[in-house]
Amino acid sequence: MKILVTGGAGFIGSHVVDAYVTAGHEVAVIDNLTTGREENVNPDARLHRVDIRDLAQVQQVFASFQPEVVNHHAAQSEVPKSVADPGYDAHVNVVGGLNVLRASADSSVRKVIFSSTGGALYGEPDLVPADEDHPIRPLSPYGTSKFAFEQYLATFDRTFGLRFTTLRYANVYGARQDFAAEEGRVVAIFASRMIENKPVTIDGDGNQSRDMLHVGDIAMANVAALERGDGGTFHISTGIPVTVNDIFRKLAILTEYRLEPRFGPSRKGDVYRIALDNTRAKMQLGWEPRIQLEEGLRLTVDYFRDQISRLSA
Ligand SMILES: NC(=O)c1ccc[n+]([C@@H]2O[C@H](COP(=O)([O-])OP(=O)(O)OC[C@H]3O[C@@H](n4cnc5c(N)ncnc54)[C@H](O)[C@@H]3O)[C@@H](O)[C@H]2O)c1
Repeated sequence: MKILVTGGAGFIGSHVVDAYVTAGHEVAVIDNLTTGREENVNPDARLHRVDIRDLAQVQQVFASFQPEVVNHHAAQSEVPKSVADPGYDAHVNVVGGLNVLRASADSSVRKVIFSSTGGALYGEPDLVPADEDHPIRPLSPYGTSKFAFEQYLATFDRTFGLRFTTLRYANVYGARQDFAAEEGRVVAIFASRMIENKPVTIDGDGNQSRDMLHVGDIAMANVAALERGDGGTFHISTGIPVTVNDIFRKLAILTEYRLEPRFGPSRKGDVYRIALDNTRAKMQLGWEPRIQLEEGLRLTVDYFRDQISRLSA
């Protein structure tokens, strides 16, 4: 199958590209490298350095590659950035996304797979784990732009017959995540600081909980969505809330870190307790998470150890 992955040089998108290449598909990538890196891109995939806000360039890639499936990961993906500059967030996530949709509808694309968010859509959930029918009430412009794009997908399906599957991710962690980013990439930030024996600050009291999913499981959900889940919206998650203090302790053991955490002010707009019910994905996509938290954290610590020793060599 010919698959175009937007954002395929980024943290999650690059793992999706790897999984598609491994499964024998022909893959092209659109990425403007704002947060992505060229070295993340699988050597068997062709990188087009294109900004999705540029419709003509997006159309050119579609005309030359003629994808059958489009997997849309390119985005402004940081909550604080969306709060600071909601216009930029909407330009990339809504207007840029619409360019990808328009080009898809105008060509022979069979289906679009979209990476949405579960963590930023529901506000403080009424029930934990929340399912996909939970009321939508985003606390950030990022959550709103992701939800707006979900609505456009449904419209393009109704009006142009462009099929889609929406995957709402939990908090994703793993290799290639940017540990320098300001966003709450808790595993990447804690692990890299612990390896270097630097102080670690927990925002708030650390009892806030998240649904943490390893990026390898995310990649497999994107493989499942190639053949299944048309017209559906699915939580790609564990369904299990884990506290930030727990993550700190597990990482401290893996890195033999002995310092106590510092506690800072809690972050405005952060959800306190969330987990996402994944029953629908299990039933309809035939997908379920396979990488336990301990194993995922160990893989991630190994990766950051390697990265940090390379950087300091
Ligand atoms: N990381 C998470 O926990 C998480 C959770 C839910 C959803 N998501 C979604 O998954 C997707 C990937 O997120 P990520 O964490 O890998 O972030 P990332 O920043 O590593 O990946 C985004 C990619 O999009 C590219 N990009 C940004 N603006 C672009 C533009 N205008 N034109 C072309 N390319 C552009 C970036 O260079 C980068 O490679 C995003 O859509 C994000 O909203 C992530």
